[in-house]
Amino acid sequence: MRNTLPHLLQKVARQEKLSMLTAYDAAFARLFDEAGIDMILVGDSLGMVLQGHDNTLPVTLEDILYHTQCVTRVVQKAHVTADMPFMSYQSSIEQAMINAGHLMKEAKAQAVKMEGGEEIAETVYAAVKAGIPVMGHIGLQPQQIHHLGGYKIQGKNLNEADLLLEDAKILEEAGCFAIVLEGIAVETTETITRSLCIPTIGIASGPACSGQVLVMHDMLGMHKTFRPKHSKIYADLSVTITAAVQKYMEEVQAEIFPAQENATHRDLKVVLSHK
Ligand code: KIV
Repeated sequence: MRNTLPHLLQKVARQEKLSMLTAYDAAFARLFDEAGIDMILVGDSLGMVLQGHDNTLPVTLEDILYHTQCVTRVVQKAHVTADMPFMSYQSSIEQAMINAGHLMKEAKAQAVKMEGGEEIAETVYAAVKAGIPVMGHIGLQPQQIHHLGGYKIQGKNLNEADLLLEDAKILEEAGCFAIVLEGIAVETTETITRSLCIPTIGIASGPACSGQVLVMHDMLGMHKTFRPKHSKIYADLSVTITAAVQKYMEEVQAEIFPAQENATHRDLKVVLSHK
């Protein structure tokens, strides 16, 4: 059975940290699940790391539905949250409910994530009332890239910190079960985490949160040159993959691959019996 919200909240109550990773397909989701990850996020970061866009805005509800289905088809244990992409929840509460409903019903997500503070509080409240658990997301909101003008750390002065704290409290009151704090100054993250009863999940926000989330491509070193400071390379897969591909090409060229054991020969007995 997949981790439930009470299970995750009990873990936080025991002062244990939550670990969350993004995943977008069955192969990686199965590996992360078998490794024991608490939570998987099918993030709209897929627009950048899978689809090659510059930002997350082009991601559609259909993209998130498809990738969430790939993940939930194989995950046995981890809790799965699906991200609500840009303009799938901002235009009206009704539209948000319909779209969140698709992610829960057709993709078997256990929760949805929405970026925003006070401005999405009514939407969060309506979704939660209807039985859709919502994870909030404040601080650096990638869907606001054109307002922000870049991926910059938020909450660096007291004024910004107060506004973030207010948004966090409003989201908690609206019914969010957890809030992602992205790209927030460490001291502001500490204040927000201390002031809430629900867990905070941090990315690029320091160690004070109740848990951490990373984009899988960052922590697995899948990009050769883009190595964000907030992440840590736990395995340098771009190096491993490049070396594997080059070795394969060399072996094909040198006729080392395929070897005898990689090929199947005709069954001589069958051939003879046909004569
Ligand atoms: O889309 C995503 O992967 C996210 C995480 C960075 C929190 O929102």
